[in-house]
Amino acid sequence: MSSKVFKLIEKEKKRQLIGLEMIPSENYVSSDVLKALGSILTNKYSEGFPKARYYGGNEVIDKLEIYAQNLANKLFGTKYAFVQPYSGSPANFAATMAVCDPGDVVMGLALSSGGHLTHGANLSFSSIFYKAVNYTVGKDWKINFEELEDLAKKHKPKLIWAGTTAYPFKLDYSKFRKIADEVGAWLVADISHISGLIVGGVHPSPVKYVDLITTTTHKTLRGPRGAMILVTDRGYKKDPEIKGKIEKAIIPGLQGGPHNHQTAAIAVALEEALKPSFKRYAKQVVKNAAVLAAELGSKSENHLILLSLESYGYGMGYQGQVALEAAGITINKNTIPGEPVSPFYPSGIRLGTPALTSRGMKEKEMVKIAGWIKEVLEEIRGLDLPKEQELRKEFIKSVKVKMKKNPKLKKIRQEIAKFASKYPVPGIDS
Ligand SMILES: Cc1ncc(COP(=O)(O)O)c(C=O)c1O
Repeated sequence: MSSKVFKLIEKEKKRQLIGLEMIPSENYVSSDVLKALGSILTNKYSEGFPKARYYGGNEVIDKLEIYAQNLANKLFGTKYAFVQPYSGSPANFAATMAVCDPGDVVMGLALSSGGHLTHGANLSFSSIFYKAVNYTVGKDWKINFEELEDLAKKHKPKLIWAGTTAYPFKLDYSKFRKIADEVGAWLVADISHISGLIVGGVHPSPVKYVDLITTTTHKTLRGPRGAMILVTDRGYKKDPEIKGKIEKAIIPGLQGGPHNHQTAAIAVALEEALKPSFKRYAKQVVKNAAVLAAELGSKSENHLILLSLESYGYGMGYQGQVALEAAGITINKNTIPGEPVSPFYPSGIRLGTPALTSRGMKEKEMVKIAGWIKEVLEEIRGLDLPKEQELRKEFIKSVKVKMKKNPKLKKIRQEIAKFASKYPVPGIDS
């Protein structure tokens, strides 16, 4: 037994139990999901798809994968489901490969406006192998559909992404559809962040409007790390050959053998998401985010809050992340729309409620947590990022040391540890 690895796991368990995990793309999976993920299914090679494998011995695995596919189609109301993508980024690569040739134009929301890397950001496959065009959000931080339409008419994309990673508002998929139809583009919804909210009935579903859907399984959907590609009836009508094209993109296009333990854990999570209790969970996630946002002087229509820290000083995102972490609150620094400073030293933070809600926290707890967040942020007021780029690394190092020693943050950390330990985490004994 590797004592080093298991000691580190115990340490991480403690961190997850006594802290407040508020990164909006994270969650706590159930004990059953953990059990499936840690099962002997990891031993098996199954390249190919159900009933068409390159290896023998896949009778059980075939049943498992078909079961997971059926659950996904039932839950989302789609025609085909692919559960093998290793994670969200390869799923997006496979979806792009299935409908585009290298060099085709793909359009997605800019990273600095809350889009994802795989939707056409610099250095991502999506701009290396395809011609990427980015649309942005307006002054109200909402998607600028006029700009999207102008860009689409000008560049004639083959694929338009409707998906976000740091965007606190609901999406109106009918607006994307209208533009995609004007230029004949494939419309793909990347619902990674909001899939749990969609199946929980608290965010509009894209199924009626889009051709394909991609989603990670480990965010609001509360499954293991993994991803799915879904084909809607509309997508099938657009190209009746689409199933084979997606399969070919997954393997041999991008991947080898599927992670069968992951498929099993996805199936368990989908079973859980079909239960009425999951609807209650999704509803509470949104309620909690709305309360938290209001307490912090912001707004949220989903599970996350994008908070500008400009009122605390210049380039404060990093300092905010460091100070909150010192107090036991895990969030991430984030650019704000029209980021005035830098993607590496941004002006905002992103936080969310999926993981806290899985621990049973409600509105009352959000008010308490918002109070701590505000107290912590006061400790960084005026700690402006140096304007000179060469001084920034050292500055952040010194902020880390300062925040670790800060008596106020130490006190809050103790209060939070006591508070958080009362809320159970599956797979972790308190
Ligand atoms: C919208 C969106 N798509 C795709 C991904 C990529 O997922 P993964 O990190 O599993 O590759 C993310 C992850 O943050 C995301 O937010």
